[in-house]
Amino acid sequence: MKGKKLITVAFETSCDETAVAIVSDGREVLSNVIYSQIDVHRVFGGVVPEIASRRHLENINGVFESAMDEARVSPDEVDIVGVTYGPGLVGALLIGVATAKAFSFAWGKPLVGVNHIQGHISANYIAHKELSPPFTALVISGGHTAIVEVAGYNEFKILGKTRDDAAGEAYDKVARVLGLPYPGGPAIDEIAKVGNPHSAEFKRVYLEKGSLDFSFSGTKTGVMNYLNSERQAGRTPAAADVAASFQLAIMEVVVAKSVDAVCMMKKDKLALAGGVAANSLLREMLGDACEKHGIALYFPPPELCTDNAAMIGCAAHYKYIGGGRDGLALDACANLEL
Ligand code: KG4
Ligand code: ZN
Repeated sequence: MKGKKLITVAFETSCDETAVAIVSDGREVLSNVIYSQIDVHRVFGGVVPEIASRRHLENINGVFESAMDEARVSPDEVDIVGVTYGPGLVGALLIGVATAKAFSFAWGKPLVGVNHIQGHISANYIAHKELSPPFTALVISGGHTAIVEVAGYNEFKILGKTRDDAAGEAYDKVARVLGLPYPGGPAIDEIAKVGNPHSAEFKRVYLEKGSLDFSFSGTKTGVMNYLNSERQAGRTPAAADVAASFQLAIMEVVVAKSVDAVCMMKKDKLALAGGVAANSLLREMLGDACEKHGIALYFPPPELCTDNAAMIGCAAHYKYIGGGRDGLALDACANLEL
């Protein structure tokens, strides 16, 4: 089989995106179809797990057919069936896992379960064909915030992680109190561009000296307290100013710890992963800091930062190459660790 490119069909349903992608040889995306449920959940101000599962169930077959058509791939050409099996909303994950198992069984093709976080990191391999481990990764999304040493394609060490909220979660909560639409991250990113980042100095939480852990809930609560006291005093701070000041407080810490981690590991490559990696202030600040420290910075385009199945296809490919296989007993795991 030497020289044959492996074709992976990948499914991603861990939260509110129903996604199927076809990936050739791990890094070439033949199709990447995403049905976003954002509009459905926006009226509730966040993801409603029960609704997410139902929508996945309604849409997954159509999304799958579109992905296969667009890639012009037939079932007999498929080598690997990849699927996110955690972490995420268990009911949502189950739809992807059950669908992937059905195709794996019907086609007689190997099933490979993928950790969603590994998927986010793998998005960088699609965007940067020359990138290979080892490198340091900042995983920053709605569910997770961690600094990870990527020792190999399937080898990870957590150097630090959030002790409370994920960064994206803090963004979404602050956006809500500012009256911005869900998801709050992109809304804050946009409005902050015209705000004064020094209108209020919110807490920068660095924790113990040398720690690579994060804590964002104090900064988030600080914003809420500030808004309450301003409103009680009859003042209405501009949302753009609060958004800009909040995200500067978060990103100063994120950038400092990420650069510290790369230097501590004596490495020179940093890759961004996860939905918040699409944030323009983070990219700008990290770009400057990495340049100063001689660190090469990698990040996927915004559409590969947020949830998608192409990144899952890439991760499934490398897990399969490394000998990883899962049987039909594969189950969804809401709290799966990297
Ligand atoms: O990776 P992702 O799609 O889902 C999880 O695995 O969590 O990340 C979603 C998170 C949400 O919290 C969203 O508000 C945030 O990523 N996000 C952003 C931006 N785009 C998405 N946060 C800040 N700036 C952005 N441009
Ligand atoms: Zn994600």
